[in-house]
Amino acid sequence: MDPTIAKGQPGRDQLIFPLDVPDLATAESWVKRLAPWVGTFKVGLELFSAAGPAAVERLVDVSGTRVFLDLKFHDIPATVERAARAVSRLAGVRFLTVIAGGGEEMLRGAIRGAGDEIRILGVTRLTSRPADPASVVAVARGAVEAGCPGLVCSGAEVAAVREAVGAAIELVCPGVRPPGADAGDQVRVAGVAETIAAGADFLVVGRPIRDASEPERSAEAICDEIRVALELRANSGE
Ligand code: C5P
Repeated sequence: MDPTIAKGQPGRDQLIFPLDVPDLATAESWVKRLAPWVGTFKVGLELFSAAGPAAVERLVDVSGTRVFLDLKFHDIPATVERAARAVSRLAGVRFLTVIAGGGEEMLRGAIRGAGDEIRILGVTRLTSRPADPASVVAVARGAVEAGCPGLVCSGAEVAAVREAVGAAIELVCPGVRPPGADAGDQVRVAGVAETIAAGADFLVVGRPIRDASEPERSAEAICDEIRVALELRANSGE
């Protein structure tokens, strides 16, 4: 794929890269390297703990895109609402995660606090632990009933979750592994094309890109594979 690829390009739009790195300088260098193939950069616990909210705004500037803030809030409803409101004062946050099992009141608080600009994603079950699809679907339904516009689940159960929650809910899948990639600490893993075919809107792919001998080529290949899978999905009438 042409690295000058325009924004709004299928493949790139769906690919999320987690900036699981220890400092802002390293994060910025990854953003610059991967921006041609990555539509959204994710800031998680490591980078947020190290570099703080200012880093989020800096990365929005550097990438020219809104970021995914993966802080997996899980606390009493009032605390989560206030924390989400604090996040809403940062410029350029697209998604914010909360633990879906934290309960309906907590999810409603997160949604209220985050306001209209930020989409709350309910994390159903961590992809690093075993979970049966029925229990993931039950948590997913509860989160959607509480008003979550999106969910995080693994490729292993995304088809079941999609069927349960319908087409309008955004589904984000981590634990994606291209063929031959090391699963690392992820347990519920699935391939790129199969996860898109099963109904995912976004894929989070970290170590298979970061640890590749040529990360740009890995990102490009994943981006291409997503685009082809989207075309197949569209042609199959999904
Ligand atoms: O390196 P890898 O592709 O496993 O990275 C997956 C990313 O997605 C990590 O940043 C991790 O924190 C995040 N994540 C996850 N499982 C969830 C929610 C988020 O792996 N359920």
